[in-house]
Amino acid sequence: MTVTHEDELQEQFDATIARHDRIEPRDWMPEGYRKTLVRQIAQHAHSEIIGMQPEGNWITRAPSLRRKAILLAKVQDEAGHGLYLYSATETLGASRRELTDMLISGKQKYSSIFNYPTLSYADVGTIGWLVDGAAICNQVPLCRTSYGPYGRAMIRICKEESFHQRQGFELLMTMMRGTDEQRAMVQESVDRFWWPALMMFGPPDADSPNTAQSMAWGIKRDTNDELRQKFVDMSVPQAEVLGVTLPDPELRWNDERGHYDFGQPDWEEFAQVVRGAGPCNTQRIAHRKRAHDDGAWVREAATAFAAREI
Ligand SMILES: [Fe+2]
Ligand SMILES: [Fe+2]
Repeated sequence: MTVTHEDELQEQFDATIARHDRIEPRDWMPEGYRKTLVRQIAQHAHSEIIGMQPEGNWITRAPSLRRKAILLAKVQDEAGHGLYLYSATETLGASRRELTDMLISGKQKYSSIFNYPTLSYADVGTIGWLVDGAAICNQVPLCRTSYGPYGRAMIRICKEESFHQRQGFELLMTMMRGTDEQRAMVQESVDRFWWPALMMFGPPDADSPNTAQSMAWGIKRDTNDELRQKFVDMSVPQAEVLGVTLPDPELRWNDERGHYDFGQPDWEEFAQVVRGAGPCNTQRIAHRKRAHDDGAWVREAATAFAAREI
């Protein structure tokens, strides 16, 4: 049997993954690995950028200068996360322009959570606490992902996400120490965001056909259900400290498992939101397209300037 060059490269790749070493842009990689990474990192980048909208909605109506400064900084951080991640996809041969087109045309997705509206200022706190909290559960294992540029981007992103979560919790804590009306606002917000936050980990493992391959490649380190459990276990004691009730009658500690038992989100609603029929899908994409069109002159000017420099 003759060993082809391709077989040797595949062997080296497999050995690198088995050693838990990193694959770098200059290394050979299977086409499926490259495509899976581009899709996952692009979806992640799109989520950061679209995720600026629900909270950006409240920047002009922040209740104090301090809250406005915090919210502005947080939304800007998310733009930064999008940029690191688009840069990581460029190391795999994708271009930001092509990925933005795929987002706007609906060919690539972003996290379902950002298709829900933000109806009160308490939502800024709840998003920080639960949505950034869920993002941290998803993303901390990605710091050890097998593709170098993605893992390194995640290290910095995770540091900022944990700051986001703390600011959200602090905002909610402040409101919970306020008036009855403020406490009711927090509870109403948590009631709306709890189930969509659980959906952020994706469908149950049994309905997640790509998980096994992604784990074999070292792209993903934990399954959707494992991450969801981690998030529930982390959030329940925090909800107790806050004094809010999580809207799940099945939520209770299971001594045998050493974890909380919990109910399932409405997976039919999740499927609908992913298909584009969520409460804000159309609005989010229209806004992104408008912002992209409005930025055309900046891209043109930058291109003209770069041509002159050469
Ligand atoms: Fe982020
Ligand atoms: Fe964040």
